[in-house]
Amino acid sequence: MTEILRVEGLQKRFGGIVVSDNVHLSIASGEILGLIGPNGAGKTSLFNLISGVLRPDAGSIFLRGQKIDGAPLYKRARMGIARTWQNMLLFRSMSVLDNLMVGPREYVGESIVRLAFGRAGVRATEAAMQERAMGILARMGLEQTAGSLVVDLPYGQQKLIGLARTLMNDGDLLLLDEPMAGVEGAAYETMQRVVRQESEAGRAVCVVEHNVSFIRDLCSRAVFMAQGKILQDGTVEELISSSVLTELYFGV
Ligand SMILES: Nc1ncnc2c1ncn2[C@@H]1O[C@H](COP(=O)(O)OP(=O)(O)O)[C@@H](O)[C@H]1O
Ligand SMILES: [Mg+2]
Repeated sequence: MTEILRVEGLQKRFGGIVVSDNVHLSIASGEILGLIGPNGAGKTSLFNLISGVLRPDAGSIFLRGQKIDGAPLYKRARMGIARTWQNMLLFRSMSVLDNLMVGPREYVGESIVRLAFGRAGVRATEAAMQERAMGILARMGLEQTAGSLVVDLPYGQQKLIGLARTLMNDGDLLLLDEPMAGVEGAAYETMQRVVRQESEAGRAVCVVEHNVSFIRDLCSRAVFMAQGKILQDGTVEELISSSVLTELYFGV
């Protein structure tokens, strides 16, 4: 298995709160890693550190073996780090299609394309992006929502649109922050199927999720995090059967 992401000795604190305490982690191509732990454990902060929203106090991050510590958020996105946001951050009063057309990885600034290829070039780039967007929506059975405003869709479909927008970045690391929160029924099945397909396509996936059965169905491996520390790394069954963790998290 090819290693896509490696995190070494990551350290980050906010005042007195340590959100990342000597975190070591590695995710391979084709792997779906579950990241679980109580609220405030530092899971979203870890995604923020990896994607470049936050700078670590110490430690390093490698993407396909290349150190990316100095790269800003947009460059990491171009390098292939794709993420969803816990609170979605969709443009709710824009159409579904327009949400997908905003900010994919290979988007070349319109002015540059115009310089090189003229107006026809701009139209060609847009057409290719639109085709890609419609393909992703079709995979989710959502192509008929392309012209709808996000705000008019049911919550589960909005979460899928958040994933669809993330998939516009054809990167090989996918970070999903609580994709299933509040999602049930058909949208749940679709989310599960699409995440599995992405890993089968060779992407490395890391998913933060409180829904243990979702993690159990999807993840070969999971890590448990609390107070910025990774306390255990193993199979989901191993984590669930650990007495320390069940007390801390599963409330048993
Ligand atoms: N930008 C920030 N500034 C200050 N404190 C923060 C910031 N981001 C997160 N925190 C704090 O760090 C801790 C971990 O938060 P977070 O990473 O969101 O946890 P989780 O996603 O596991 O619930 C929380 O106590 C949170 O309040
Ligand atoms: Mg979080």
